[in-house]
Amino acid sequence: MHEDVERVLIDEQVIGKRLDAMAEEILGEFRGTEFVAVLILKGALVFTADLLRRMPVPLEIECLNVASYHGETESSGKVDFLDRKLPDVQGRSVLLVDDILDTGRTLHAVRARLLENGARKVRTCVLLTKDKERAEEVEADYSGFDIGDEFVVGYGLDFRGRFRNLPYIGVLKEEVIDL
Ligand code: IMP
Ligand code: MG
Repeated sequence: MHEDVERVLIDEQVIGKRLDAMAEEILGEFRGTEFVAVLILKGALVFTADLLRRMPVPLEIECLNVASYHGETESSGKVDFLDRKLPDVQGRSVLLVDDILDTGRTLHAVRARLLENGARKVRTCVLLTKDKERAEEVEADYSGFDIGDEFVVGYGLDFRGRFRNLPYIGVLKEEVIDL
């Protein structure tokens, strides 16, 4: 375990097992439809890579650069689209993937934008759903784990850009966040 980590919340093996089941579940809906997976950078990078490798079907991958956290542990309340051009989703089925559903602002804003841009359908998928009140009414169609309302890192999730490469979901020591 990394020295800055207080405890491991979800270990690598448990994540892997859950992803096997999620991939099956998603394929149950998407099998036979060629779809595009749109992942939200950078948090969904690790999760999406592991999830999609469990789905041996024709699909495409697009990335979206969106920021809502700006380096702190609370949401800034604003979703910025950082790309000059969004992926072409006109008439397509989209699996929108993010690391975590927190306030819901990111998924809500991105989903709306994809539909505005002509997506035929958008399904949302997150590794983690945080147990808290959402600022926007949005749910994940597919979610790996429910967690409490605490700040977590690892498996794609960061604190000020670090810890994304931890293979598990963990909670940082208080003194690391207080710095
Ligand atoms: P939302 O828009 O508030 O739902 O937040 C979604 C984004 O906030 C995620 O894509 C994460 O990047 C970030 N985020 C929310 N909670 C956490 C956390 O516990 N750790 C790290 N990042 C988080
Ligand atoms: Mg993120």
